[in-house]
Amino acid sequence: MRSKIVAGNWKMNLTFDEAEELVDNILDRLDEQDEMNCEVIICPPYPYLEMLTDYEFDEQRFNVGAQNCSAYDKGAYTGEVSAKMLKSIDVDYCIVGHSERRKYFGETNEILAEKINRLIENNMSPIYCVGEVLEEREAGRHFEVVKEQLEKGLFHLDGDAIYDTIIAYEPVWAIGTGKTATPEQAQEMHAYIRSLIKEHYDEATADDIRILYGGSCNAKNATELFSQPDVDGGLIGGASLKADDFVSICNQASHIGEE
Ligand code: PGA
Repeated sequence: MRSKIVAGNWKMNLTFDEAEELVDNILDRLDEQDEMNCEVIICPPYPYLEMLTDYEFDEQRFNVGAQNCSAYDKGAYTGEVSAKMLKSIDVDYCIVGHSERRKYFGETNEILAEKINRLIENNMSPIYCVGEVLEEREAGRHFEVVKEQLEKGLFHLDGDAIYDTIIAYEPVWAIGTGKTATPEQAQEMHAYIRSLIKEHYDEATADDIRILYGGSCNAKNATELFSQPDVDGGLIGGASLKADDFVSICNQASHIGEE
């Protein structure tokens, strides 16, 4: 059975002190729980990654991910951060293709495919985000859009490399809006994504890859969403900035499937 993952995406929030306080609070709350039966990943802004990887080693309660990386390997690319640099400070995961990067920074599926290549070359796991905007859903084009994002951005990987990838389905109309996809809408798209993986690779691969839901997932709706058979956890934005909510979501993910 696939184990659940809860990944927190802090986006461009928090000062260093606030970030430290949030991690302390998350760890205090995690300590109050029994051992988590889910993988927890925290994705802070770049300047806080090393502080988080230090905690990761001391506490072993969560993994650390970046929110972005360069499509280039190294060199004269001012302001960029490479996958190799991230790996050198023990960051093992990286979000790629978040809709905010696609929208505000012009990241295309082709650029994202390169970012994914750099991550795989450095033995890191991409968390590849896909999802349609509202007009696309209203026009009934959501499956088509997600298929294209997967085919152009991810499915160039071979069968071994794809195993290290996590997919996050994030309908753009649900991100930061408080308007969550219904569990049925999430399940329908996740099952579709899994069917595409099966088509491009094989059934065993499709069965193993984790597909997270993201978009206004919170402590109130997590259990309902994560109980869907093809929803393997969540990519959490706003609610990952509140220790109580984030740990509650992790706890809910941990207990799915228990009587
Ligand atoms: P949200 O963001 O939970 O605040 O909707 C999710 C995301 O953008 O990853």
